[in-house]
Amino acid sequence: MDMPHTPTRSHWSNRLAFILAAAGSAVGLGNIWKFPYITGVNGGGTFVLIYLMCIAAVGVPIFLAELFIGQRSQRNVVESFEVMDRPGTPWRLPGWLGLASAFLILSFYSVVGGWVLDFEYRSLMNQFAGHSDEEIKAVLGSLFASPGRQLFWHALFMGAVVSIVMRGLNAGIERWNKILMPALFVLLALLLVRALFLPGFGRALEFLFAPNAEALKPAGILEAVGHSFFTLSLGMGALITYGSYLQSREELVRTAFTVALLDTLIALVAGVIIFSVVFSFDLDAGAGPTLMFQTLPMLFTKMTGGYFISVAFFLLVSFAALTSAVSLLEVIVTYWVETHRKSRTVTTLVAGGVIYGLGILSALSTNLLSGVKLGDKTFFDLVDKLTSSVFLPVGGMLISLFFGWVLGPKAAEAVAGKGKYAHVAALGLMWSARLVAPLAVAVVLVHGLRDW
Ligand code: TRP
Repeated sequence: MDMPHTPTRSHWSNRLAFILAAAGSAVGLGNIWKFPYITGVNGGGTFVLIYLMCIAAVGVPIFLAELFIGQRSQRNVVESFEVMDRPGTPWRLPGWLGLASAFLILSFYSVVGGWVLDFEYRSLMNQFAGHSDEEIKAVLGSLFASPGRQLFWHALFMGAVVSIVMRGLNAGIERWNKILMPALFVLLALLLVRALFLPGFGRALEFLFAPNAEALKPAGILEAVGHSFFTLSLGMGALITYGSYLQSREELVRTAFTVALLDTLIALVAGVIIFSVVFSFDLDAGAGPTLMFQTLPMLFTKMTGGYFISVAFFLLVSFAALTSAVSLLEVIVTYWVETHRKSRTVTTLVAGGVIYGLGILSALSTNLLSGVKLGDKTFFDLVDKLTSSVFLPVGGMLISLFFGWVLGPKAAEAVAGKGKYAHVAALGLMWSARLVAPLAVAVVLVHGLRDW
């Protein structure tokens, strides 16, 4: 089944570089911004429990399936299915869906990345110090009200993503991941220790970990499933693409578990920190997308060394966002360069420009276009919900079915390797991919959409 490498294809320099890039893709705004806010909106405990179950039962198997498809085919999201099955196979569909998801997700992701850059700038200028909690809460509102400011930061963020992807894998993505991801982990640990001494710490733990089934609706369950895809970068071929830069014999299982564990840990730690602030200062846990931006600066202004911590924090979050955004754009660029034999530079610039344009609609959703709604959702809400709650679960389900039924036992055995329990692991993986994961997603999708 080993395929010859295409001449344009680069590979990770070593195993660590790959793990860091996969972690860089997984750990991003999804962990630090999105997880706490959707947990707050969905009432805490039970939502978190379902999310954790999804990571373990659905996320890890699909993570492995994607890496395997990429690694074996050595191709982009669309062609990988053809290489593994046959030219023109209908299984290209998840590939196309993945490309669409990449465009849509990156368009609003870059806008939120822009908010982080704006907050980094304000931190640098020391604009939070000496302000009341009410004034700090109002800062994001003033950014929302300004189309110019939002478009400026959105442009800067997208420009950074484009300049990294343009340079290609080894010189761009690999190098920075190695330095800045570990720095983010250290800083979060530090903030966790500080949160421990806040009066709201106990209530934060209770909110996150005590089940409260009444608070959760079917749409919330769908959101938990969808977020487990979002946070692990699953369901749209980001990991097919990254897997395709692996040499064919590299082991996958340990990588998948390491990344899933790291990703989950970071989301939970971010949640504990943010809700400790929420309950200490009597804020609204269900505030929505504004949550992180309104809570953390309050904490920073009350800490010794708050200026530096604030500057470091928003810098590292923008970096986490950047490494995730890079993986989204890489899916599109790799496809276009490989299939249409176009230059990487031109492709990256054009795709980046198109995504920037699409993102303008999200940036204007909090001001000029705030009245334009479908149901109760602005363009921003719609793109966010549609991709997480529909496109990624559907894409993930198709990839899972492809792995389980088309590639079948041989693929599962190849992933499981030769260890003592490899046989059992292979069976578990195959049936999870054939039945458990697709069925879980299908049931939740049907119920969740009805109540959407
Ligand atoms: N996982 C990233 C986060 O949590 C976002 C992301 C990067 C992503 N690549 C993706 C989400 C691919 C879905 C699909 O912030």
